[in-house]
Amino acid sequence: MSSAELSVFIRAIGVHAPARTLTNAELSGMVDTSDEWIKTRSGIAERRIAAAGEAPSDMGAKASAQALSRAGLTPADVDLLIVATMTPDVPFPSTACLLQAKLGLRRDIPCFDVSAACSGFVYALQVAKDMMRSGAYRRALVIGAEKLSSVVDWSDRTTCVLFGDGAGAALLETSPEPGVGLLANLLGADGNNAELLHCAGGGSASPHTGDSLREGRQFLRMNGKEVFRHAVRVMAESCERVLAQAGLTSEQVAWFIPHQANIRILEAVAGQLNVGMDRFPSNLARYGNTSAASIPLALEEAWQDGKIKHGDLIMIVAFGAGLTWGATLLRWHEPPR
Ligand code: UT7
Repeated sequence: MSSAELSVFIRAIGVHAPARTLTNAELSGMVDTSDEWIKTRSGIAERRIAAAGEAPSDMGAKASAQALSRAGLTPADVDLLIVATMTPDVPFPSTACLLQAKLGLRRDIPCFDVSAACSGFVYALQVAKDMMRSGAYRRALVIGAEKLSSVVDWSDRTTCVLFGDGAGAALLETSPEPGVGLLANLLGADGNNAELLHCAGGGSASPHTGDSLREGRQFLRMNGKEVFRHAVRVMAESCERVLAQAGLTSEQVAWFIPHQANIRILEAVAGQLNVGMDRFPSNLARYGNTSAASIPLALEEAWQDGKIKHGDLIMIVAFGAGLTWGATLLRWHEPPR
């Protein structure tokens, strides 16, 4: 078999959620909202908030260390590191480089960030897979790590109730066996709708000034209704197109692990695919929307809960700022616990 035909599978998975839990009741004391509104409109009951000095690279390093330890491997075994984040530790260098140093990874490996917001983990998985299929890299860490609490406007009730912090890491490995691991995928983007979900200030086009900070241009802003509409359409379409690519139907997929943005988005996508919500595991209630971290967090939980079994077909699907979206169909390879 030529190296171009190598399969890439998730050998191990690890997660990290910050210790601090922020409940809907606490939020109700901060902005004009209620536990009832948040739960009914989003499905969220609480979210985790990172400590002041706890950066995405710290959370990502902890998730990675768990994945490596579960696999019985060490940092020296990692040949490639990709971090998906929309809340990098600093504008530069990349969060991946900071995480490389914290984890003690080798210096002869590529380390870089992928910026695709909530679709970041799906994007990064695909980039890693394509780099690994050549045979140049045997093992990769793909990490989604976010500190959304640092870009949320805590006085804006339309967004601050939705987001949370956390990290998840997938340790990928190549295999000569065909048909295992990451099977089919699709990625897409629409920059014409960038303003539906964005942070307007702080970049090189619009560096922060006293005025921009007073105007709140350092914060995430979202047109929730429009984002919701796009999310449902594009996530359902992406699943359908990836299934068609693989010559499969939604009936053959054991589990759908979507980006955890809003329980009503998940219900609408499940409805469009004609799939019961019992095949859409969700941890939204306890974590809220953790952007690039949400899929690995949900995947790990579904596996720990004993839902996902060796050989199961799983569809992961995401949507986020950019706009961006992506879906990956994979065959689960039971990882070590
Ligand atoms: O990761 C991908 C990116 N994000 C998403 O996928 C989020 C997509 N959008 C959504 O999840 C939903 O649109 C939201 C949860 C953000 C909002 O739900 P909605 O059902 O679209 O509510 P709405 O924006 O239409 O607001 C309904 C009402 C409004 O009041 P009026 O104008 O009807 O008087 C809002 O001002 O609810 C009000 N409202 C709130 N009330 C209490 C908005 N936020 C809150 C709040 N608490 N936190």
